[in-house]
Parts: sequence; C-alpha cells; structure tokens
Amino acid sequence: MKQSFLALATPGVQQLTPYQPGKPVEELERELGISNSIKLASNENPLGPSPLALEAIAKVSSSINYYPDGGGFVLSNKLAQRHSVDASNITLGNGSNDILELVTRAFLTPQHSAVFSEYSFAVYPIVVQAVGAKANVASAFPEDHETMPLGHDPAAILSQIDDSTRIVFIANPNNPTGTWLTPDVLEELFNNIAQDIIIVLDLAYTEYMDDDVKPPINKWLRIFPNLLITQTFSKVYALAGLRIGYSISNAEIADILNRVRQPFNTNLLAQTAAIASLDDAAHVRNSVAMNNAGKIFLQQAFTEMNLSYLPTMGNFIAVKVAQDGMALYQKLLQQGVIVRPVANYDMPEYLRITIGTQQQNERFVAALKQSIS
Ligand SMILES: Cc1ncc(COP(=O)(O)O)c(C=O)c1O
Repeated sequence: MKQSFLALATPGVQQLTPYQPGKPVEELERELGISNSIKLASNENPLGPSPLALEAIAKVSSSINYYPDGGGFVLSNKLAQRHSVDASNITLGNGSNDILELVTRAFLTPQHSAVFSEYSFAVYPIVVQAVGAKANVASAFPEDHETMPLGHDPAAILSQIDDSTRIVFIANPNNPTGTWLTPDVLEELFNNIAQDIIIVLDLAYTEYMDDDVKPPINKWLRIFPNLLITQTFSKVYALAGLRIGYSISNAEIADILNRVRQPFNTNLLAQTAAIASLDDAAHVRNSVAMNNAGKIFLQQAFTEMNLSYLPTMGNFIAVKVAQDGMALYQKLLQQGVIVRPVANYDMPEYLRITIGTQQQNERFVAALKQSIS
C-alpha cells in the first residue's frame, strides 16, 4: 500500500491549511497574457524602498558569500537606540512572521492554548496549530458595532483566557479589518492579563496610525514584563521582499527566542537595508502622507458607490462589496487589478484593498465600478 506521509505528520500539521499570499503580478500576467497589472493585495508600500536602502544593498552585495552577522549587532543596536531600550531587548526575525513563530515554538505545547480574536491575522492560527496547541478564538465586535465593526473585543479576549493559555495575540491595527484599540483600552486589557501569559502586540502597521492612538510602547514595556511587541520593515519601510522584522521585549524573553531562532535567520541584505531605511525619515513621512491621501480618496469613492467599509489605521481598507467577494476579485483580475479576497477570514462579502499610489487607486476604482455595474 502507498505510504501516506500526511498520516505521519504531527496532528497539528495534518490539520493545517497553508497561508494564502496575495497573487503575484507576474503570475497573473502569465496566466492571462496581459501586462501593466497592479497589485493592491499584500499591504506593501507602493512608493518602493528608500533610495538609501538600495544604495546600501548595492555596496554590500559582493559580500554575500559570507554568512551574515547572526546576531545582527548593528541593526539591533540601532533599533535599541531608536526605541530607547537595550540591545538585549531586541530580537530580529526573518519578517515579523518569524518572531510570531519563534514565540509559539518557545512557549506553546499541545497542552497549551493561545488566544486571539476572530478576523485577526491569518498567521496566528497557523503558528499555533503547527505546534499542536489549542486556539481559543475570541468573538470580535459585531458588524453593526458603533465604532469598531469586526474589531477586537477586549472583554471577549479576556473571556477566552483559561489555565492553559500561554500567549495572547493582539494585532493593532488588525489585518484584515484595519480596526484598532485605543491606548487606554489596550492598557486596561493588559492590566487584566496575568503576567505568566505572554502578550504579543503585533504593531506591523503602527507607523500608519494617527499619533493620538499610537501605542506608548516604552511605558508599556516598563510596566508589563510579559509584553512582546513585534514590528516589521515590510510595510512602511517597504522591504517586504527582503524579510526583516523584530520584537522588543524584556531581555529574558528575548533570550528565550534567541534559543529557538535559526543561527542566521536574518540575511545580510535585509539587515543592511533595514539599517539604512531607519535613516530615511522623509521616506516614512512621504509614505504615510500618501497613504492618508489615498485612504480619503478610496473612502470617498466607496461612499459614492454606496459601499460600506471598516475604519482603518493601516495601509489597507476592508470594503463590503455586498456580493460574493471571490467572484468580484476574479472580475477585477480580468482587468489586471489584484486585490485580496478575505473569505478565508470568514468575511466572504468583503475585499481588502491595499492603499496604492493615486494612479493605482484611480485604476482600481475604475475597475471596481466596471466590475460591479
Ligand atoms: C498584522 C500583521 N502582522 C505581521 C505581518 C507579517 O509581516 P512580515 O512577516 O512581512 O514582517 C503582517 C503581514 O501582512 C501583518 O498583516
């Protein structure tokens, strides 16, 4: 009889559904034989990377025959300075996804559970299930909630914590909804989580947030020793293709993550580009300004089309298309516009649109109008 290798995989892995990434432009163009398509599907920065990053990579590219600095000394120290913490508080990851995986491998077993909200980032259930741990999923706010439809509900999150819980994941703002919790609400939530539970606060989109709701991370790191903050260079810093992210936590947690990470989990080009990008404050400012303008443009277009959308502090908007989102996604593909269907998040009537350049946003809106009419 033919051997089933799936039957040999661990029980958690047997049940896993792989992460579905946004469709690459090249794939669509190959499939349809078209050109000039646009991708607004993976919350990438349409401005492209900082020129400082590109220059820096070019300078070191002839050294890729050498292993990178496994500990990422220069980048860790630069990040530590940036956040007014010690380098021993920083852990570098091959994207912040890497950190999400490290923390589950370090703290969860099949006897443990992790808590996260409905409609939150798809990687949480994957990394939890991969280690065979249990996912305790908290109900989100209902769709008719006054301020944060489908957003994280702190009371529901607390109600899912039990004796087996070792990790609580909170994305702020959350992907794919774009919703967020204000600093006072988050602080109260953290105050109600026992200190033997690791709080993973995922701030992948934090640079896009309005200043009045940006989390006071330094204060929180001082008062919550169980807090692990993850950030990334994939979004506003526009280095998604290089894979580099990091966490800030107390040094003991960082030491634990360091035990399970691969020796060279972040590569030379990624470290180099990240170091250079941190010096380009203007690029970050321009990216955020473009995002804010694009957000207003798209929101107005949706309103004119009588489509509702979720409030967002990210570089994307979840719009309720009030029809089968997957079918509409397919129609948009035919016009060379790639967005993100979110049926896999249990939001079949929504599409998630990454906010692009003005030209991309206009092209998307025109395609949307044509596809809906
Ligand atoms: C909420 C959230 N966290 C983490 C990530 C992972 O980003 P990366 O691994 O590129 O740092 C993403 C990417 O889309 C995200 O949306």
